[in-house]
Amino acid sequence: MSEAMPEPGKTPRRDKITVEGVDKTFPTKKGEVHVLDGVNLTVREGEFLAIVGPSGCGKSTLLNCMAGFERASGGSIQVDGEEVTRPDPKRVFVFQETGIFPWYSVWDNVGFGLGQMPFEAKDEHVMKYIRLVGLEGFERSFPSELSGGMKQRVEFARALAVEPDVLFLDEPFGALDAFTRIEMRREIVRIWEKTGKTCILVTHDVSEALELADRVAIMTRRPATVHSVLDVDMPRPRDSDDPPFREMKDLIFQVLGVERRV
Ligand SMILES: Nc1ncnc2c1ncn2[C@@H]1O[C@H](COP(=O)(O)OP(=O)(O)O)[C@@H](O)[C@H]1O
Ligand SMILES: [Mg+2]
Repeated sequence: MSEAMPEPGKTPRRDKITVEGVDKTFPTKKGEVHVLDGVNLTVREGEFLAIVGPSGCGKSTLLNCMAGFERASGGSIQVDGEEVTRPDPKRVFVFQETGIFPWYSVWDNVGFGLGQMPFEAKDEHVMKYIRLVGLEGFERSFPSELSGGMKQRVEFARALAVEPDVLFLDEPFGALDAFTRIEMRREIVRIWEKTGKTCILVTHDVSEALELADRVAIMTRRPATVHSVLDVDMPRPRDSDDPPFREMKDLIFQVLGVERRV
């Protein structure tokens, strides 16, 4: 494993997750579906990595394998040097806003994964994450009283409250309207910068990947492999009209083999 030279003012990032030669087939009534075919990918500690690829190529399957919800059919996935065999509370999924419990208040939703704790300690902890996502004052509200973006903030707070070191985001903005999606993309960058968690975002939206990530892994069609990983060396916040942004976007579409509509 070669350590990259540290950039001035930045500590070198060590490898957090390594995916080596991962294959995945699903048995079905019509025979086996070959989804992942020799996937290699390294995720560095504290980075924001996006994974893009055509719909149905196996992005969610890869994420589920990394999180330990699915077992790879072949190859190896290691987190901190240890083989992944099952889910771990240090690695959590952020779902769409629909993942929160409608019958629980914001406070109860955020505290859900914390188990038994003395009330004061729990309250302090829960409120810390409610503040982090900008929902202070809404802790007693119920999901039905919140907008889509606010519900997604609850989802983020709940995921962060268990203090994981990896966040898996599988198309988390899919259920939001266009304006809220823009707002939540900014919000996730702010939360990521503030917490320093390793974030892995799966999306079919190339602009979203380029707006958020340090690096973008491009998957091929099924049976999928990682074609290449691009460094996104643009300062944030990023503007999708900037020429370098557009060039990278064109490059990714070329790799994906998709004709762009003008
Ligand atoms: N549990 C499963 N059983 C059988 N086939 C599956 C299962 N999960 C996913 N697949 C198939 O694997 C392929 C990739 O699915 P998925 O990882 O959800 O793609 P993506 O997230 O890139 O849209 C699809 O063809 C899907 O039908
Ligand atoms: Mg998916």
